[in-house]
Amino acid sequence: MSDNYKNLADITRKDFPMFIDIDAKKDNFIYLDHAATSQKPQTVIKSLEEYYHYYNANVHRGAHQLSAKATEAFEDSRNITSVFINANSSNEVIFTRNATEAINLVARSWGDDQIEKGDEILISLMEHHSNIVPWQLLAQRKKCIIKFININKDGTLDINDLRSKINNKTKLVSIVHISNTLGSCNPIEEIAEISHKYGSLLLVDACQSLAHQKIDVKQLNIDFLAGSSHKICGPTGVGFLWAREEILNNMPPFLGGGEMIQDVFLEKSTWSELPHKFEAGTPPIAEAIGMGAAVKYIQSIGLDHIQKWEHELTKYLFEGLKRIESVKILGPSPKIQINRGALATFIVNDIHANDIAELLNNNNIFIRSGHHCCQPLHRHYSVNASARASLSFTTTFTEIDSFLEELISSIKFLKNYI
Ligand code: ALA
Repeated sequence: MSDNYKNLADITRKDFPMFIDIDAKKDNFIYLDHAATSQKPQTVIKSLEEYYHYYNANVHRGAHQLSAKATEAFEDSRNITSVFINANSSNEVIFTRNATEAINLVARSWGDDQIEKGDEILISLMEHHSNIVPWQLLAQRKKCIIKFININKDGTLDINDLRSKINNKTKLVSIVHISNTLGSCNPIEEIAEISHKYGSLLLVDACQSLAHQKIDVKQLNIDFLAGSSHKICGPTGVGFLWAREEILNNMPPFLGGGEMIQDVFLEKSTWSELPHKFEAGTPPIAEAIGMGAAVKYIQSIGLDHIQKWEHELTKYLFEGLKRIESVKILGPSPKIQINRGALATFIVNDIHANDIAELLNNNNIFIRSGHHCCQPLHRHYSVNASARASLSFTTTFTEIDSFLEELISSIKFLKNYI
């Protein structure tokens, strides 16, 4: 490991008020729940404060200077996001409330318009509920069929199963890039090639990958991408949908109201140009500006740098967990899948994940337990819950050591208790 990578957490922790307090011993906890939501750097917090303090105004509406300034910052963020994922144009980036809304937008608008009875939608067993339920609702409305791609024993996607299930009736493959539970990184370029061969579009849920590795929508050759701000160091309340412009142009509006219209008559309305056609009502202005600041911050650290540092941390976490006899990790080893997510989800023989998380919490170590919004995946493993420690570029080896130490004590305590 080069010194650069060794220092990444040390360097970046100084950018986060929360970690500054922890490191100055003003506070005392270890946050290993970055996959649920990331912590926010000062630059993001400042961007929210500046908007509300100096130029709080609605966007795209007023001729006054404040509105012009807010509009400029809001649209700058769209542009920053579009460059971040290498979109063709910022018209392809639609601000939504979150990634869930982005997927629902596709299901409601594109799905209701394009899907017919008997059409097929292919998703995987490792999907988050946000990439299952919108398609189930669509299936109820349109009588289409949802098929699930299996996973291999090591928690990677069974690409042969995908090949065997896709056919000319498949209209959409909708798949997570990095699983929030297994950490598996799916081979999107390969999936795009297979999907397009059958005339299917491909949607990628990039919530767990955007802050951890470089995403280039052109290189991935995908059709839709859903992203979330709060998982990339930005505020909650905003996310985005990216789609190719010609697809968005052909999609009907999702929500109706102000801003998304061109003309409103008593009997009909016409729609705004992209991206506004899909942004009804006052958008999350401060949040979108904050997301732009977050993207700039991530770019300033560098995703290559982040990926390498997190890979070292993940290997270390896996090695530690593997030494604990009763622990079973779900998902591929970072030694085999080097681009996997920076997290480890595990189950402990005879012990409920919530008990583990609670004991760790008592010792100020915060992890997530439960089904992580992936109930079908947990049923596949015949468990109803798992524990998950998720990392970020701000995570240190010392934090992982403390987590492992407390995990071992917690398991010993709970085993004696049983
Ligand atoms: N989807 C988020 C997680 O995995 C909330 O924790």
